Amino acid sequence: MTKNKLYELIVSRRSIRFFKQKNVPLSVIKKAINCARLAPSAANLQFLEYLVIKRNDIKEKVFGCLRFAAYIAPKRNPPIDKRPDFYIVMLINKERSGAPNLRDIGVSAQNIMLSLLSSRVGSCWLQNIDRNSLTAILNIGENFEIDSVIAAGFPKERPKLEDDSKNIKYWLDNSGRLHVPKRSLKDVLHYNNI
Ligand SMILES: Cc1cc2nc3c(=O)[nH]c(=O)nc-3n(C[C@H](O)[C@H](O)[C@H](O)COP(=O)(O)O)c2cc1C
Repeated sequence: MTKNKLYELIVSRRSIRFFKQKNVPLSVIKKAINCARLAPSAANLQFLEYLVIKRNDIKEKVFGCLRFAAYIAPKRNPPIDKRPDFYIVMLINKERSGAPNLRDIGVSAQNIMLSLLSSRVGSCWLQNIDRNSLTAILNIGENFEIDSVIAAGFPKERPKLEDDSKNIKYWLDNSGRLHVPKRSLKDVLHYNNI
């Protein structure tokens, strides 16, 4: 992939919450986790591990622990025919770090989302989750802590980017399309002084 393609991928990535009911091959998911494991890691502690949920009965339970698009809830809760094809649960291995550096998680999650997108798989990173229920449902051991969940699948929506430095809340138009405001480049880029 050329540098320009990577740029286009990064710019075009939007959080996807409605998905086609189409299987994502395990090879695509494995590539994404491979990108996660190769991400930069503070002091190279590599405390992250990844639990992939593909089985329908478990997926249903995981879904019940997730909160989608709080600003417009419940309008972006995917209905049964638009649910994610799989989930990646981001786990902190507490034996590898007692004070996990959150930057590791950010860079790893972004690697996953971009790798998936390079195979046309959309995703949404969720932190608004019921961790206690999810820990019980997934039988997570004491040495692990759930950080967040990436919901993914082939996209069934096409959110629109809006250059908008005033608003932070994404919104739905009359046709149900999601619009996502982002601060403009000129408002966030500073040369030499602020
Ligand atoms: C750390 C983090 C936590 C997030 N948690 C949730 C979440 O719980 N539920 C959700 O629907 N979206 C969640 N998102 C997605 C954001 O709402 C989304 O990134 C933001 O609205 C900007 O849209 P974009 O990803 O399309 O650029 C989260 C994003 C980040 C970075």
